[in-house]
This record gives sequence, structure tokens and C-alpha cells, in this order.
Amino acid sequence: MLIATVLFKLYYMQGIQIIDKTFIPYITNEELEQAIKRLATIVHNDYKGEIPVFIGVLNGVIIFMSDFLKQYKGDCEISFLQMKSYEGTQTTGNVKTLMDISMDITGRHIVLMEDIVDTGNTLYALHQLISRKKVKSIRTATLLYKPDAYKKDLNIDYIGMHIPDKFVVGFGLDYEGLGRNLPDIYQLKD
Ligand code: IMP
Ligand code: MG
Repeated sequence: MLIATVLFKLYYMQGIQIIDKTFIPYITNEELEQAIKRLATIVHNDYKGEIPVFIGVLNGVIIFMSDFLKQYKGDCEISFLQMKSYEGTQTTGNVKTLMDISMDITGRHIVLMEDIVDTGNTLYALHQLISRKKVKSIRTATLLYKPDAYKKDLNIDYIGMHIPDKFVVGFGLDYEGLGRNLPDIYQLKD
């Protein structure tokens, strides 16, 4: 049994291959779940007596958002939109709205939810889009934040974890569309 565990660990530490790149284990599912639980508690405390609308950015946010919602103990509503700025492992700097939200959010408290904030271009574009809709308030939340890559001065209210400026996959995050279903997060090997 012990040998099986050691062999599994060695195999796991070697990393995984997605298309032409190797990724090594970086953040475990347990660590992610702890960070998400902590965020859900803090957000709930800030919205006591309110029904916030959590707006998620597809596709990357799905796993973070579903786990966050399971931990959020108050009333809330959800909506999604789709934006795209990345090609492969590089940001294009040009954020496209592929799908706008369908819900009327006039007069509502909004929390914008991202899987990861890198340059901040997506979050900024999203903030611009939502602030035109006459909402009551807007706050921002992200599971992962790369402070060294961030180029905007928009405040991020809720951050799950700070990570270095390196490309990661898993837990909703993809490389060329793949890797979103990995339960842990992996970092690109140099
Ligand atoms: P930003 O606009 O540069 O902040 O990038 C935000 C979006 O790019 C995220 O919502 C992700 O979809 C994608 N992205 C940024 N960094 C990574 C990464 O390390 N892995 C996978 N996707 C990323
Ligand atoms: Mg995203």
C-alpha cells in the first residue's frame, strides 16, 4: 500500500502533458476548496440582508463559481457572460464580449466573478460593461490573482490566492481549450 502511494506521488510529480506543454502540480483541490470557503464566508458577511447577483465570466469560472455557490450561505442570484482575451498562453490585450448577460440587473448589487485575473483587461472590460447598466454597486472577485501581471487600477475586492506570473491550467482554466476538468491546478514547466 505504501509503495503504491509513493509510486503514485512520483508519477503525479512528473506532471502532465497538454498538447506541446508540460505542467507540474501546483495547487491542490483541498487548498482551492479552503480558499473558496473563506471567500464565500467573507462575501456573505458583506452582503447580509441583500440578495447579490454573482456574474461569472465563462468558461473559466464555472468550477470556481459552482464551488463558491455551494459554500455561500445566503440568498443570491447568478448570471453569466462570455468574454475572451487569451490565445494559447498569451493575452491578446483585446477583450471580446462573446455573450452578454440576459438578466435585468438594474438597481442590483453585483459581484463580478473571474477564475483568474492576469493583466486585468477582462475584468476591466467587464466592469465597464456592467457599470453602464445602472446597478446599485459592483464588487469584484477572483479565485486567482497574478499581481505581477496586473496592469489596471481597478480594485479587486475578493481574492482567493495570489500566484506568480506563470501560466496555469486546471480547475476551470484551460490551455487551448483543454485541462479545465483537472481537479487541481498545474503550472507550466519552464
Ligand atoms: P486578463 O484579461 O489578462 O486579466 O486575463 C483574464 C483571462 O485570461 C482569464 O479569465 C482567463 O480566461 C485567461 N487567463 C489568464 N491567465 C491564465 C492562465 O494562467 N491560465 C489560463 N487562462 C488564463
Ligand atoms: Mg476567464
